[in-house]
Amino acid sequence: MDIRATDTPRLEWTGDALAVGLFEEATTLTDDLAQLDEKLGGTLKELIEETEFKGSAGSSAVTRVGAGSSIRKIILVGLGKPDALNLDSLRRAGAAIARTAKQHKIKTLGISLPVVKDDPAATAQAITEGIVLALHQDNRFKSEPEDKGAKLEQVELLGLGNQEAAISRAHAIGSGVILARELVAAPANVVTPISLAETAEAIASEYGLSLEVLEREDCEKLGMGAFLGVAQASEMPPKFIHLTYKPQGTAKRKLAIVGKGLTFDSGGLNIKGAGSGIETMKMDMGGAAATLGAAKAIAQLKPDVEVHFISAATENMISGTAMHPGDILTASNGKTIEVNNTDAEGRLTLADALVFAEKLGVDAIVDLATLTGACIIALGNDIAGLWATDDTVASQLKAAAEQAGEKFWQMPMEDKYFDGLKSPIADMKNTGPRAGGSITAALFLKQFVKETPWAHLDVAGPVWADKEDGCNNAGATGFPVRTLVSWVLSDA
Ligand code: BES
Ligand code: MN
Ligand code: ZN
Repeated sequence: MDIRATDTPRLEWTGDALAVGLFEEATTLTDDLAQLDEKLGGTLKELIEETEFKGSAGSSAVTRVGAGSSIRKIILVGLGKPDALNLDSLRRAGAAIARTAKQHKIKTLGISLPVVKDDPAATAQAITEGIVLALHQDNRFKSEPEDKGAKLEQVELLGLGNQEAAISRAHAIGSGVILARELVAAPANVVTPISLAETAEAIASEYGLSLEVLEREDCEKLGMGAFLGVAQASEMPPKFIHLTYKPQGTAKRKLAIVGKGLTFDSGGLNIKGAGSGIETMKMDMGGAAATLGAAKAIAQLKPDVEVHFISAATENMISGTAMHPGDILTASNGKTIEVNNTDAEGRLTLADALVFAEKLGVDAIVDLATLTGACIIALGNDIAGLWATDDTVASQLKAAAEQAGEKFWQMPMEDKYFDGLKSPIADMKNTGPRAGGSITAALFLKQFVKETPWAHLDVAGPVWADKEDGCNNAGATGFPVRTLVSWVLSDA
Protein backbone atom coordinates (compact mmCIF):
# COMPACT_ATOMS: atom_id res chain seq x y z
CA MET A 1 0.00 0.00 0.00
CA ASP A 2 1.34 3.36 -1.01
CA ILE A 3 0.40 6.41 1.07
CA ARG A 4 1.32 9.87 -0.14
CA ALA A 5 0.27 13.43 0.60
CA THR A 6 -0.58 15.76 -2.27
CA ASP A 7 -1.83 19.25 -3.01
CA THR A 8 -4.79 17.94 -4.98
CA PRO A 9 -8.00 19.69 -3.82
CA ARG A 10 -10.79 17.28 -2.92
CA LEU A 11 -12.96 18.71 -5.68
CA GLU A 12 -10.53 17.49 -8.30
CA TRP A 13 -9.58 14.12 -6.89
CA THR A 14 -10.71 11.01 -8.77
CA GLY A 15 -10.61 7.37 -7.65
CA ASP A 16 -12.57 4.62 -5.89
CA ALA A 17 -13.52 6.40 -2.67
CA LEU A 18 -13.20 9.88 -1.26
CA ALA A 19 -13.28 10.22 2.54
CA VAL A 20 -14.30 13.56 4.01
CA GLY A 21 -14.21 14.61 7.67
CA LEU A 22 -17.16 16.54 9.11
CA PHE A 23 -17.31 18.32 12.45
CA GLU A 24 -20.14 17.83 14.88
CA GLU A 25 -23.24 19.90 14.08
CA ALA A 26 -21.43 21.38 11.06
CA THR A 27 -23.23 19.13 8.65
CA THR A 28 -24.64 21.89 6.45
CA LEU A 29 -22.48 21.82 3.38
CA THR A 30 -20.62 25.03 2.66
CA ASP A 31 -17.90 26.21 0.29
CA ASP A 32 -16.19 23.52 -1.69
CA LEU A 33 -18.23 20.77 -0.01
CA ALA A 34 -21.37 22.29 -1.48
CA GLN A 35 -19.61 22.30 -4.85
CA LEU A 36 -18.55 18.71 -4.35
CA ASP A 37 -22.11 17.76 -3.49
CA GLU A 38 -23.30 19.40 -6.64
CA LYS A 39 -20.71 17.56 -8.67
CA LEU A 40 -21.88 14.28 -7.11
CA GLY A 41 -25.51 15.02 -7.86
CA GLY A 42 -26.53 15.70 -4.24
CA THR A 43 -25.20 12.38 -2.92
CA LEU A 44 -23.43 14.00 0.03
CA LYS A 45 -26.49 15.83 1.30
CA GLU A 46 -28.63 12.76 0.83
CA LEU A 47 -26.18 10.58 2.77
CA ILE A 48 -26.11 13.05 5.67
CA GLU A 49 -29.91 13.18 5.81
CA GLU A 50 -30.52 9.49 5.35
CA THR A 51 -28.06 8.40 8.03
CA GLU A 52 -28.88 11.39 10.29
CA PHE A 53 -25.13 11.96 10.28
CA LYS A 54 -24.18 14.25 13.16
CA GLY A 55 -20.40 14.31 12.83
CA SER A 56 -19.81 12.87 16.27
CA ALA A 57 -16.30 11.53 16.84
CA GLY A 58 -15.90 7.96 15.65
CA SER A 59 -19.06 7.91 13.50
CA SER A 60 -18.93 7.14 9.81
CA ALA A 61 -21.23 6.63 6.83
CA VAL A 62 -20.65 5.43 3.32
CA THR A 63 -22.56 5.40 0.06
CA ARG A 64 -22.22 4.64 -3.62
CA VAL A 65 -22.12 7.62 -5.98
CA GLY A 66 -24.28 7.47 -9.14
CA ALA A 67 -22.80 5.80 -12.24
CA GLY A 68 -20.56 7.89 -14.43
CA SER A 69 -19.03 9.84 -11.56
CA SER A 70 -15.27 10.18 -11.17
CA ILE A 71 -15.61 8.88 -7.60
CA ARG A 72 -17.31 5.54 -6.91
CA LYS A 73 -17.97 5.94 -3.20
CA ILE A 74 -18.01 8.61 -0.58
CA ILE A 75 -17.04 8.00 3.06
CA LEU A 76 -18.02 10.47 5.75
CA VAL A 77 -16.20 10.43 9.05
CA GLY A 78 -17.23 12.36 12.14
CA LEU A 79 -14.59 14.54 13.79
CA GLY A 80 -16.44 15.64 16.95
CA LYS A 81 -16.28 19.23 18.18
CA PRO A 82 -13.80 21.50 16.36
CA ASP A 83 -12.16 22.67 19.64
CA ALA A 84 -11.46 19.09 20.66
CA LEU A 85 -9.72 18.21 17.39
CA ASN A 86 -6.19 16.95 18.05
CA LEU A 87 -3.67 14.56 16.53
CA ASP A 88 -5.41 11.60 18.08
CA SER A 89 -8.73 12.57 16.45
CA LEU A 90 -6.89 12.33 13.12
CA ARG A 91 -5.32 9.00 14.01
CA ARG A 92 -8.77 7.66 14.88
CA ALA A 93 -10.33 9.17 11.75
CA GLY A 94 -7.56 7.59 9.64
CA ALA A 95 -8.26 4.24 11.30
CA ALA A 96 -12.03 4.51 10.78
CA ILE A 97 -11.62 5.45 7.11
CA ALA A 98 -9.15 2.64 6.46
CA ARG A 99 -11.46 0.05 8.03
CA THR A 100 -14.44 1.26 5.99
CA ALA A 101 -12.36 1.30 2.81
CA LYS A 102 -11.20 -2.26 3.43
CA GLN A 103 -14.75 -3.44 4.07
CA HIS A 104 -15.87 -1.90 0.79
CA LYS A 105 -12.95 -3.31 -1.20
CA ILE A 106 -11.65 0.13 -2.12
CA LYS A 107 -8.36 0.17 -4.02
CA THR A 108 -7.70 3.87 -4.43
CA LEU A 109 -8.66 6.20 -1.59
CA GLY A 110 -8.52 9.96 -1.19
CA ILE A 111 -8.65 11.41 2.33
CA SER A 112 -9.58 14.97 3.11
CA LEU A 113 -9.22 15.89 6.79
CA PRO A 114 -8.47 19.22 8.47
CA VAL A 115 -4.91 20.21 9.38
CA VAL A 116 -4.26 20.18 13.13
CA LYS A 117 -2.25 22.96 14.80
CA ASP A 118 -1.23 24.36 11.39
CA ASP A 119 1.08 21.39 11.15
CA PRO A 120 0.54 19.44 7.90
CA ALA A 121 3.50 17.14 8.70
CA ALA A 122 2.13 16.05 12.09
CA THR A 123 -1.30 15.77 10.47
CA ALA A 124 -0.02 13.45 7.72
CA GLN A 125 1.91 11.39 10.27
CA ALA A 126 -1.12 10.90 12.53
CA ILE A 127 -3.48 9.92 9.69
CA THR A 128 -0.90 7.49 8.30
CA GLU A 129 -0.36 5.89 11.73
CA GLY A 130 -4.12 5.40 12.02
CA ILE A 131 -4.34 3.75 8.60
CA VAL A 132 -1.32 1.48 9.03
CA LEU A 133 -2.30 0.32 12.52
CA ALA A 134 -5.98 -0.26 11.75
CA LEU A 135 -5.17 -2.32 8.66
CA HIS A 136 -2.73 -4.61 10.46
CA GLN A 137 -4.17 -8.09 10.56
CA ASP A 138 -2.40 -11.04 12.11
CA ASN A 139 -2.97 -14.15 10.01
CA ARG A 140 0.08 -16.08 11.22
CA PHE A 141 -1.90 -18.68 13.09
CA LYS A 142 -4.77 -19.17 10.64
CA SER A 143 -4.45 -21.92 8.06
CA GLU A 144 -6.51 -19.73 5.69
CA PRO A 145 -6.02 -15.94 5.86
CA GLU A 146 -9.28 -14.13 6.65
CA ASP A 147 -8.85 -11.05 4.51
CA LYS A 148 -8.66 -12.44 1.02
CA GLY A 149 -9.69 -10.27 -1.91
CA ALA A 150 -9.09 -6.66 -2.88
CA LYS A 151 -6.48 -4.69 -0.98
CA LEU A 152 -6.13 -0.96 -0.54
CA GLU A 153 -3.42 -0.01 -3.02
CA GLN A 154 -3.10 3.76 -3.08
CA VAL A 155 -4.00 6.38 -0.47
CA GLU A 156 -3.73 10.11 -1.08
CA LEU A 157 -3.86 12.58 1.80
CA LEU A 158 -5.33 15.59 0.05
CA GLY A 159 -4.30 19.19 0.48
CA LEU A 160 -1.25 18.54 2.70
CA GLY A 161 1.57 19.16 0.22
CA ASN A 162 4.48 16.73 0.04
CA GLN A 163 4.90 14.98 3.40
CA GLU A 164 7.26 12.17 2.51
CA ALA A 165 9.33 12.45 5.69
CA ALA A 166 6.32 12.51 8.00
CA ILE A 167 4.73 9.56 6.22
CA SER A 168 7.89 7.48 6.38
CA ARG A 169 8.16 8.36 10.09
CA ALA A 170 4.64 6.97 10.53
CA HIS A 171 5.58 3.80 8.65
CA ALA A 172 8.66 3.30 10.85
CA ILE A 173 6.62 3.77 14.03
CA GLY A 174 3.89 1.53 12.63
CA SER A 175 6.41 -1.24 11.93
CA GLY A 176 7.59 -1.03 15.55
CA VAL A 177 4.04 -1.13 16.94
CA ILE A 178 3.19 -4.09 14.69
CA LEU A 179 6.32 -5.98 15.78
CA ALA A 180 5.31 -5.46 19.43
CA ARG A 181 1.74 -6.59 18.69
CA GLU A 182 2.90 -9.74 16.94
CA LEU A 183 5.31 -10.63 19.75
CA VAL A 184 2.60 -10.16 22.37
CA ALA A 185 -0.08 -12.01 20.37
CA ALA A 186 2.10 -15.04 19.68
CA PRO A 187 1.64 -17.72 22.32
CA ALA A 188 4.27 -18.91 24.79
CA ASN A 189 5.06 -21.97 22.70
CA VAL A 190 6.15 -19.64 19.91
CA VAL A 191 7.61 -16.58 21.62
CA THR A 192 10.19 -17.84 24.10
CA PRO A 193 13.25 -16.16 25.63
CA ILE A 194 15.23 -17.72 22.76
CA SER A 195 12.95 -16.27 20.09
CA LEU A 196 12.99 -12.83 21.75
CA ALA A 197 16.79 -12.92 21.54
CA GLU A 198 16.50 -13.96 17.89
CA THR A 199 14.15 -11.05 17.20
CA ALA A 200 16.71 -8.71 18.78
CA GLU A 201 19.37 -10.32 16.57
CA ALA A 202 17.25 -9.75 13.47
CA ILE A 203 16.82 -6.05 14.33
CA ALA A 204 20.53 -5.74 15.09
CA SER A 205 21.59 -7.21 11.77
CA GLU A 206 18.96 -5.46 9.67
CA TYR A 207 19.69 -1.98 11.00
CA GLY A 208 23.28 -2.26 12.25
CA LEU A 209 22.67 -2.13 16.00
CA SER A 210 24.94 -3.91 18.44
CA LEU A 211 23.63 -6.83 20.46
CA GLU A 212 24.82 -8.60 23.56
CA VAL A 213 22.89 -11.62 24.84
CA LEU A 214 23.92 -12.81 28.29
CA GLU A 215 23.40 -16.53 28.94
CA ARG A 216 22.58 -18.03 32.34
CA GLU A 217 26.29 -18.39 33.23
CA ASP A 218 27.02 -14.75 32.28
CA CYS A 219 24.17 -13.61 34.49
CA GLU A 220 25.50 -15.79 37.32
CA LYS A 221 28.88 -14.06 37.02
CA LEU A 222 27.14 -10.69 37.32
CA GLY A 223 25.33 -11.90 40.44
CA MET A 224 21.84 -11.58 38.94
CA GLY A 225 20.29 -13.79 41.61
CA ALA A 226 16.84 -12.19 41.42
CA PHE A 227 16.45 -12.72 37.66
CA LEU A 228 17.91 -16.23 37.85
CA GLY A 229 15.66 -17.16 40.76
CA VAL A 230 12.66 -16.62 38.51
CA ALA A 231 14.30 -18.48 35.62
CA GLN A 232 15.35 -21.54 37.62
CA ALA A 233 12.20 -23.66 37.13
CA SER A 234 12.04 -23.28 33.36
CA GLU A 235 13.32 -25.81 30.81
CA MET A 236 13.86 -22.82 28.57
CA PRO A 237 17.21 -21.02 28.96
CA PRO A 238 16.86 -17.40 30.13
CA LYS A 239 18.26 -14.68 27.86
CA PHE A 240 19.38 -11.27 29.07
CA ILE A 241 19.05 -9.11 25.97
CA HIS A 242 20.95 -5.84 25.52
CA LEU A 243 20.50 -4.13 22.16
CA THR A 244 22.22 -0.78 21.56
CA TYR A 245 21.49 1.96 19.05
CA LYS A 246 24.27 4.54 18.64
CA PRO A 247 23.95 7.58 16.38
CA GLN A 248 26.58 8.33 13.72
CA GLY A 249 27.67 11.59 15.35
CA THR A 250 27.84 12.44 19.03
CA ALA A 251 24.84 11.47 21.11
CA LYS A 252 22.85 14.32 22.64
CA ARG A 253 21.46 12.00 25.30
CA LYS A 254 22.00 8.47 26.51
CA LEU A 255 18.87 6.55 27.48
CA ALA A 256 17.92 3.07 28.65
CA ILE A 257 14.57 1.37 28.01
CA VAL A 258 14.01 -1.75 30.09
CA GLY A 259 11.11 -4.11 29.35
CA LYS A 260 9.69 -6.94 31.46
CA GLY A 261 10.12 -10.10 29.42
CA LEU A 262 8.15 -12.95 30.98
CA THR A 263 7.23 -15.10 27.97
CA PHE A 264 4.85 -16.95 30.28
CA ASP A 265 3.84 -16.28 33.88
CA SER A 266 2.29 -19.30 35.57
CA GLY A 267 2.75 -17.64 38.95
CA GLY A 268 5.33 -20.24 40.00
CA LEU A 269 4.48 -22.25 43.14
CA ASN A 270 2.08 -19.44 44.09
CA ILE A 271 0.34 -20.62 40.96
CA LYS A 272 -2.32 -18.48 39.34
CA GLY A 273 -5.64 -20.12 40.16
CA ALA A 274 -8.79 -20.60 38.12
CA GLY A 275 -10.26 -17.30 36.95
CA SER A 276 -6.90 -15.54 37.30
CA GLY A 277 -6.43 -15.24 33.55
CA ILE A 278 -3.45 -17.60 33.49
CA GLU A 279 -4.26 -18.42 29.86
CA THR A 280 -3.57 -14.78 28.92
CA MET A 281 -0.11 -14.72 30.48
CA LYS A 282 1.65 -14.98 27.11
CA MET A 283 1.30 -11.19 27.17
CA ASP A 284 3.60 -10.86 30.18
CA MET A 285 6.44 -9.97 27.82
CA GLY A 286 4.54 -6.88 26.64
CA GLY A 287 7.29 -4.65 28.06
CA ALA A 288 10.03 -6.50 26.20
CA ALA A 289 7.90 -6.54 23.04
CA ALA A 290 7.44 -2.76 23.13
CA THR A 291 11.15 -2.33 23.88
CA LEU A 292 12.03 -4.28 20.72
CA GLY A 293 9.29 -2.51 18.76
CA ALA A 294 10.72 0.86 19.82
CA ALA A 295 14.21 -0.36 18.84
CA LYS A 296 12.97 -1.27 15.38
CA ALA A 297 11.36 2.13 14.88
CA ILE A 298 14.27 4.12 16.35
CA ALA A 299 16.80 2.21 14.26
CA GLN A 300 14.98 3.46 11.16
CA LEU A 301 14.47 7.02 12.40
CA LYS A 302 18.10 7.51 13.48
CA PRO A 303 17.86 10.23 16.16
CA ASP A 304 21.03 11.74 17.71
CA VAL A 305 20.41 9.79 20.89
CA GLU A 306 22.10 6.65 22.19
CA VAL A 307 19.51 4.13 23.34
CA HIS A 308 20.00 0.87 25.23
CA PHE A 309 17.16 -1.64 24.92
CA ILE A 310 17.24 -4.19 27.70
CA SER A 311 15.16 -7.18 28.66
CA ALA A 312 15.75 -10.00 31.13
CA ALA A 313 13.71 -12.67 29.34
CA THR A 314 12.50 -15.86 30.98
CA GLU A 315 9.42 -17.88 31.89
CA ASN A 316 7.98 -18.17 35.39
CA MET A 317 7.31 -21.90 35.69
CA ILE A 318 6.95 -24.74 38.13
CA SER A 319 9.28 -27.74 38.54
CA GLY A 320 11.38 -29.49 41.15
CA THR A 321 13.93 -26.71 40.83
CA ALA A 322 11.39 -23.89 41.27
CA MET A 323 11.85 -21.17 43.87
CA HIS A 324 10.11 -22.04 47.12
CA PRO A 325 7.89 -19.34 48.50
CA GLY A 326 10.05 -17.85 51.25
CA ASP A 327 13.36 -18.31 49.42
CA ILE A 328 15.87 -15.49 49.79
CA LEU A 329 17.56 -14.19 46.64
CA THR A 330 20.47 -11.78 46.27
CA ALA A 331 20.25 -9.27 43.40
CA SER A 332 23.25 -7.91 41.48
CA ASN A 333 23.43 -4.80 43.68
CA GLY A 334 23.85 -7.03 46.75
CA LYS A 335 20.36 -6.47 48.13
CA THR A 336 18.56 -9.51 49.54
CA ILE A 337 14.91 -10.32 48.79
CA GLU A 338 12.56 -12.67 50.61
CA VAL A 339 10.24 -14.08 47.94
CA ASN A 340 6.99 -14.22 49.87
CA ASN A 341 5.09 -14.67 46.61
CA THR A 342 6.57 -16.30 43.50
CA ASP A 343 3.90 -14.61 41.35
CA ALA A 344 5.50 -11.20 41.97
CA GLU A 345 8.25 -12.31 39.58
CA GLY A 346 8.39 -9.38 37.14
CA ARG A 347 9.95 -7.06 39.71
CA LEU A 348 12.62 -9.68 40.46
CA THR A 349 13.67 -9.83 36.82
CA LEU A 350 13.53 -6.03 36.50
CA ALA A 351 15.64 -5.56 39.65
CA ASP A 352 18.74 -7.01 37.94
CA ALA A 353 17.88 -5.36 34.62
CA LEU A 354 17.69 -1.93 36.31
CA VAL A 355 21.03 -2.44 38.09
CA PHE A 356 22.55 -3.40 34.72
CA ALA A 357 21.02 -0.33 33.01
CA GLU A 358 22.34 2.06 35.65
CA LYS A 359 25.88 0.71 35.24
CA LEU A 360 25.79 1.89 31.61
CA GLY A 361 25.91 5.48 32.85
CA VAL A 362 22.78 6.65 31.03
CA ASP A 363 21.01 10.00 31.57
CA ALA A 364 17.64 8.37 32.25
CA ILE A 365 16.06 4.93 32.58
CA VAL A 366 12.47 4.05 31.73
CA ASP A 367 11.14 0.60 32.50
CA LEU A 368 7.87 -0.75 31.18
CA ALA A 369 6.17 -3.81 32.56
CA THR A 370 2.92 -5.73 32.72
CA LEU A 371 3.63 -5.61 36.42
CA THR A 372 0.46 -5.67 38.50
CA GLY A 373 -3.22 -6.51 38.34
CA ALA A 374 -3.55 -3.76 40.96
CA CYS A 375 -2.67 -1.13 38.33
CA ILE A 376 -5.52 -2.39 36.15
CA ILE A 377 -7.88 -2.13 39.12
CA ALA A 378 -6.70 1.45 39.72
CA LEU A 379 -6.71 2.79 36.15
CA GLY A 380 -8.68 0.36 34.00
CA ASN A 381 -7.53 -1.16 30.74
CA ASP A 382 -6.83 1.98 28.71
CA ILE A 383 -4.51 3.88 31.03
CA ALA A 384 -1.02 2.94 32.15
CA GLY A 385 0.47 3.95 35.51
CA LEU A 386 3.55 6.17 35.58
CA TRP A 387 5.89 6.53 38.56
CA ALA A 388 9.01 8.66 38.49
CA THR A 389 11.85 9.76 40.72
CA ASP A 390 12.46 12.73 38.49
CA ASP A 391 9.98 15.43 37.45
CA THR A 392 11.75 16.19 34.18
CA VAL A 393 11.56 12.61 32.94
CA ALA A 394 7.92 12.41 34.10
CA SER A 395 6.94 15.52 32.14
CA GLN A 396 8.92 14.43 29.08
CA LEU A 397 7.04 11.13 29.08
CA LYS A 398 3.67 12.79 29.56
CA ALA A 399 4.34 15.16 26.66
CA ALA A 400 5.50 12.23 24.50
CA ALA A 401 2.37 10.25 25.38
CA GLU A 402 0.13 13.19 24.50
CA GLN A 403 1.83 13.49 21.12
CA ALA A 404 1.54 9.74 20.56
CA GLY A 405 -2.09 9.44 21.66
CA GLU A 406 -1.41 6.94 24.48
CA LYS A 407 -2.75 7.42 28.01
CA PHE A 408 -0.75 7.52 31.26
CA TRP A 409 -1.60 8.71 34.73
CA GLN A 410 1.11 9.66 37.21
CA MET A 411 0.86 7.70 40.44
CA PRO A 412 2.45 8.49 43.80
CA MET A 413 5.87 7.16 44.76
CA GLU A 414 4.73 7.02 48.40
CA ASP A 415 7.87 6.01 50.30
CA LYS A 416 5.94 5.29 53.46
CA TYR A 417 4.31 2.30 51.78
CA PHE A 418 7.71 0.63 51.68
CA ASP A 419 6.82 -0.47 55.22
CA GLY A 420 4.64 -3.07 53.50
CA LEU A 421 7.75 -4.63 51.97
CA LYS A 422 9.79 -4.88 55.20
CA SER A 423 11.11 -8.36 55.87
CA PRO A 424 12.24 -9.65 59.29
CA ILE A 425 14.98 -11.69 57.65
CA ALA A 426 16.06 -10.03 54.37
CA ASP A 427 16.42 -6.46 53.07
CA MET A 428 12.90 -6.59 51.68
CA LYS A 429 10.06 -8.88 50.65
CA ASN A 430 9.00 -8.94 47.00
CA THR A 431 5.29 -8.56 47.79
CA GLY A 432 3.36 -6.07 49.91
CA PRO A 433 -0.30 -6.03 50.97
CA ARG A 434 -3.11 -6.05 48.39
CA ALA A 435 -3.92 -2.39 49.02
CA GLY A 436 -1.72 -0.13 46.92
CA GLY A 437 -0.20 -3.14 45.15
CA SER A 438 1.00 -1.20 42.11
CA ILE A 439 2.68 1.40 44.34
CA THR A 440 4.63 -1.11 46.45
CA ALA A 441 5.71 -2.75 43.18
CA ALA A 442 7.14 0.60 42.04
CA LEU A 443 8.81 1.12 45.43
CA PHE A 444 10.39 -2.33 45.18
CA LEU A 445 11.92 -1.40 41.79
CA LYS A 446 13.16 1.89 43.23
CA GLN A 447 15.54 -0.08 45.48
CA PHE A 448 17.51 -1.03 42.38
CA VAL A 449 18.13 2.44 40.92
CA LYS A 450 20.56 4.58 42.90
CA GLU A 451 20.72 8.01 41.31
CA THR A 452 19.83 7.92 37.63
CA PRO A 453 16.55 9.71 36.81
CA TRP A 454 14.10 6.86 36.39
CA ALA A 455 10.47 6.27 35.48
CA HIS A 456 8.42 3.11 35.73
CA LEU A 457 5.43 2.41 33.46
CA ASP A 458 2.95 -0.27 34.55
CA VAL A 459 1.35 -1.25 31.24
CA ALA A 460 -0.54 -4.36 32.42
CA GLY A 461 -3.89 -3.00 31.16
CA PRO A 462 -3.23 -1.30 27.82
CA VAL A 463 -1.01 -3.95 26.15
CA TRP A 464 -4.16 -5.91 25.34
CA ALA A 465 -7.55 -4.74 24.00
CA ASP A 466 -10.70 -6.82 24.21
CA LYS A 467 -12.28 -4.98 21.32
CA GLU A 468 -11.38 -2.74 18.41
CA ASP A 469 -11.00 0.93 19.40
CA GLY A 470 -9.35 3.74 17.41
CA CYS A 471 -6.08 2.40 15.96
CA ASN A 472 -6.26 -0.71 18.13
CA ASN A 473 -7.65 -3.90 16.73
CA ALA A 474 -8.91 -6.51 19.19
CA GLY A 475 -5.89 -8.24 20.77
CA ALA A 476 -2.34 -7.00 21.28
CA THR A 477 -2.03 -3.21 20.95
CA GLY A 478 1.71 -2.55 20.78
CA PHE A 479 1.36 -0.07 23.67
CA PRO A 480 3.51 2.00 24.47
CA VAL A 481 5.85 1.89 21.45
CA ARG A 482 4.51 5.21 20.13
CA THR A 483 5.19 7.00 23.41
CA LEU A 484 8.71 5.56 23.70
CA VAL A 485 9.61 6.60 20.17
CA SER A 486 8.13 10.05 20.66
CA TRP A 487 10.13 10.39 23.93
CA VAL A 488 13.43 9.40 22.30
CA LEU A 489 12.79 11.66 19.29
CA SER A 490 11.79 14.72 21.31
CA ASP A 491 14.65 17.17 21.63
CA ALA A 492 14.38 17.33 25.40
N1 BES B 1 2.07 -10.51 35.24
C1 BES B 1 1.37 -10.28 36.44
C2 BES B 1 0.56 -8.98 36.41
C3 BES B 1 -0.63 -8.97 35.51
C4 BES B 1 -1.85 -9.36 35.97
C5 BES B 1 -0.52 -8.50 34.23
C6 BES B 1 -2.96 -9.33 35.15
C7 BES B 1 -1.62 -8.46 33.38
C8 BES B 1 -2.84 -8.88 33.85
C9 BES B 1 2.36 -10.19 37.59
O1 BES B 1 3.49 -10.95 37.48
C10 BES B 1 1.63 -10.67 38.80
O2 BES B 1 1.32 -11.83 38.86
N2 BES B 1 1.37 -9.76 39.72
C11 BES B 1 0.68 -10.10 40.90
C12 BES B 1 1.43 -9.47 42.05
C13 BES B 1 0.99 -9.95 43.38
C14 BES B 1 1.41 -11.39 43.57
C15 BES B 1 1.65 -9.08 44.40
C16 BES B 1 -0.73 -9.52 40.80
O3 BES B 1 -0.89 -8.45 40.21
O4 BES B 1 -1.65 -10.19 41.23
MN1 MN C 1 3.20 -12.95 38.24
ZN1 ZN D 1 4.09 -11.41 35.58
